[in-house]
Amino acid sequence: MKQNKRKFFVTALLMMLGAIGILSFNIIQQPQPRKLQNIKALPADWTYQQVDHLMDQYKVDLGVNCRYCHAADKNNPRRNDVVSDDNPKKDIAREMIRMTAELNQKYISVLPHADTVKVQLVTCNTCHRGAPKPFGPAVAQQLPPQGPPPQPAQKGK
Ligand code: HEC
Ligand code: HEC
Repeated sequence: MKQNKRKFFVTALLMMLGAIGILSFNIIQQPQPRKLQNIKALPADWTYQQVDHLMDQYKVDLGVNCRYCHAADKNNPRRNDVVSDDNPKKDIAREMIRMTAELNQKYISVLPHADTVKVQLVTCNTCHRGAPKPFGPAVAQQLPPQGPPPQPAQKGK
């Protein structure tokens, strides 16, 4: 009986030590929150997680994969180098981010009903609908001109 009791305590003690060991190992192993390194168009105070989440949405809205906008990692071409600006589509996407924000800030959120109902903001999907080019090239050729032609960009505006 006494023997059994001692065995029990020794086993319990070992198990507790083991648990503490695993816990502290986990704390040490816990990865630091990842830092964003090259953000020029999205809000500067966004977390890595917020940006990563939005990227999944871009994939769906444009019907593409990450590589469509991100360059290959030079050391491991199967991976993406999400910090690099080597893929020219990334800078196009930045212009699109700025354009979409401006549409919402300047035109949509100031509509007369904007303070009474939930406004429908413009997203990438408003235009793209699951394709990198909103219209395929064949359709683009046939599009009639819409309204006034583009004006050359004005200086100092
Ligand atoms: C439509 C183009 C596009 C697609 C598709 C896309 N990205 Fe991005 N990604 C960007 C742009 C543009 C930026 C930079 C935003 C800025 O400058 O504010 C960026 C930045 C990032 C960053 C931040 C890197 C840093 O530290 O500066 C991560 C992480 C990232 N993308 C991951 C992904 C992943 C993962 C996917 C696929 C699920 C993906 N992206 C798909 C355009 C895209
Ligand atoms: C108001 C409509 C509109 C919105 C909103 C919009 N786009 Fe676009 N986007 C276009 C059009 C039109 C083109 C094709 C331009 C061209 O002829 O190359 C395009 C092209 C692009 C391209 C280049 C595709 C290619 O293969 O050359 C990328 C990348 C892109 N958009 C990303 C985005 C992202 C990301 C968003 C959301 C932040 C967005 N767009 C929001 C209209 C839009």
